[in-house]
Amino acid sequence: MNPPVLDLKNLSRVIQSDGQPRAVVDDISYHFHRERVYTIIGPSGAGKSSLLRLVNRLDEPTSGEVFFHGKAHCDYRPCELRQKIGYLFQTPHLFEGTIRDNLLYANKELSDDEVKSLVEQAQIKSSLIDRPTDRFSVGEKQRVAIARLLATRPEVVLLDEPTSALDPSYTEAIEELIKQIVDREDLTAIVVTHNPQQALRIGQEALLMVDGKLIEHGEVTEVINNPQTELGRLYKERRLK
Ligand SMILES: Nc1ncnc2c1ncn2[C@@H]1O[C@H](COP(=O)(O)OP(=O)(O)O)[C@@H](O)[C@H]1O
Ligand SMILES: [Mg+2]
Repeated sequence: MNPPVLDLKNLSRVIQSDGQPRAVVDDISYHFHRERVYTIIGPSGAGKSSLLRLVNRLDEPTSGEVFFHGKAHCDYRPCELRQKIGYLFQTPHLFEGTIRDNLLYANKELSDDEVKSLVEQAQIKSSLIDRPTDRFSVGEKQRVAIARLLATRPEVVLLDEPTSALDPSYTEAIEELIKQIVDREDLTAIVVTHNPQQALRIGQEALLMVDGKLIEHGEVTEVINNPQTELGRLYKERRLK
């Protein structure tokens, strides 16, 4: 296999919670390779979003390091890192203005053709490019957010529960879109989901987190259907919420 795109080495983030230190991410190491979809699963509060935030440098680790193409995170300029490692939030936060405004805000060098191609890629009707986004449905806004995510030509995309704020009728379409984008653009996607079925539909590998720790990892079907640990089995039986 090629060298990993992303390498997490003993990554931890400790916060103060009710005056006590608490590891929301607890000593996690993992390699992420190109053209694969990784899913992070686990109960609510397990630290899934906290881990994604460390990968994108929205937060800093208290110990451990993230390497991107073998170079430590802290040796990149934050804006360079955020172009290469994109983040899609659970609910789409768009800027005021049209779809074009949103895409140009992310990358002001985009040509008209590139704007059109991004919009097509996100399966948005090109007739909407110059419409203000404020009247769009949440599902449409999430597509615009995906187009904007791709506008900086990222190599890694971090998707934090990308369908949980959407009407279920949009879920399948967004899942398909994520799979297509990874194949076509040669990306690495790390997708947080609280839904094991979604992980099975879109992921190749799964990381199960409980209490900040990486409990199980490997092929998604194995992690979800054939867990090797007690916590993994509890998660499978839906006894961890
Ligand atoms: N800035 C913060 N201040 C206090 N608690 C936080 C902060 N960030 C995260 N947490 C806590 O860390 C734990 C992990 O949160 P999170 O990463 O959002 O979990 P998940 O995404 O798996 O649901 C939660 O218990 C959350 O309340
Ligand atoms: Mg979360």
